Amino acid sequence: MKTEQIARERFMRLANGFRASSVILTAVEMGFFHQLAHHPQDARELSANLGIVERGAVRVLRVLTAFGLVVYDGRLYRIHDDYLPLLSPEGEAYLGDICQHNYRLMKRWINLDETLRTGRPPKRGPRDSADLQSFILGMENISRRAAHDLKDGIGVPRPKTILDLGSGPGTYSSAYLQQYDDVHVTLLDRPEVNQIARVILEAYDDRITCIDGDMFEVDFGGPYDLIMLNNIIHSWGDDHNRELVTKTARSLTPGGRLAIKDFFTHTDRHGPEHATLFGINMFLANEHAGVYSYEDAIAWGDAAGLQFERRFMVDSTSGALVLRKGEI
Ligand SMILES: C[S@@+](CC[C@H](N)C(=O)[O-])C[C@H]1O[C@@H](n2cnc3c(N)ncnc32)[C@H](O)[C@@H]1O
Repeated sequence: MKTEQIARERFMRLANGFRASSVILTAVEMGFFHQLAHHPQDARELSANLGIVERGAVRVLRVLTAFGLVVYDGRLYRIHDDYLPLLSPEGEAYLGDICQHNYRLMKRWINLDETLRTGRPPKRGPRDSADLQSFILGMENISRRAAHDLKDGIGVPRPKTILDLGSGPGTYSSAYLQQYDDVHVTLLDRPEVNQIARVILEAYDDRITCIDGDMFEVDFGGPYDLIMLNNIIHSWGDDHNRELVTKTARSLTPGGRLAIKDFFTHTDRHGPEHATLFGINMFLANEHAGVYSYEDAIAWGDAAGLQFERRFMVDSTSGALVLRKGEI
């Protein structure tokens, strides 16, 4: 194939990516997959169950079939076996909540042009409960597997006390709770989020303390053997992150570790793809948020007297950094 043709095809695939996302995220949001996970059905039954027009349901089902997510036997549609664990509400690798969260984000991305003009992200009211659930459970969907890989990568042997800052569903802490029966975890997040985490981590109730509040205002307590900042630094500007890292340094035991996990960029911040796209996501979220390189985070640690220990990839899109407090 000629270079120009390859470039043209790649460009068109990138430029039209919204079509696939829009169909998949809308199908999840409207309950297509929950219906099909319940039992295989034809377009007429599915559209009646969802209260939508059959003409539209057929078109969406055809796309999902063309993508291989759904199988059509000439009469009924069902979810392809490979995708059942991801799309069935009972699936062990369920991704529906994060898709519902992304469905809501998609409406914000539509305003990119306006935000580029004004520099002001689209106005948002307080999150309603469905919005909060899809956000927090969405975090749980994507971190279930990563939580164990992060724990193994951090490599702190048998921490006794952990502080999970902006802990969300508490999934990263749960990997430690599962492995060590003598570890105590402190979850720090907004009260309404901690309420969700308490339900998810009910089995470990006696080894969890929740601090409800703003991480910039409340006392961290401690000291802790390990403090985690997982998917947090992208919400703040450089100054706030420096302040946060300094505050964590004061709450570590001598020799304690601070782990920072995020969608780190290359040193010059112009890649990789996922991190740069996440930079747009955060540009649309608030006026200070951003994505950072490992070097940025190491500099915050330096300023707080923490030494760089190691960095590693947690999964294909995110990495982590471990900083260590000196022994004295
Ligand atoms: C992107 S989520 C990450 C959740 C979790 N660390 C994870 O990676 O699965 C960010 C979390 O930080 C919390 N958060 C944001 N600002 C906060 C603040 N100022 N104080 C405490 N928590 C905050 C949010 O409520 C949310 O649970």
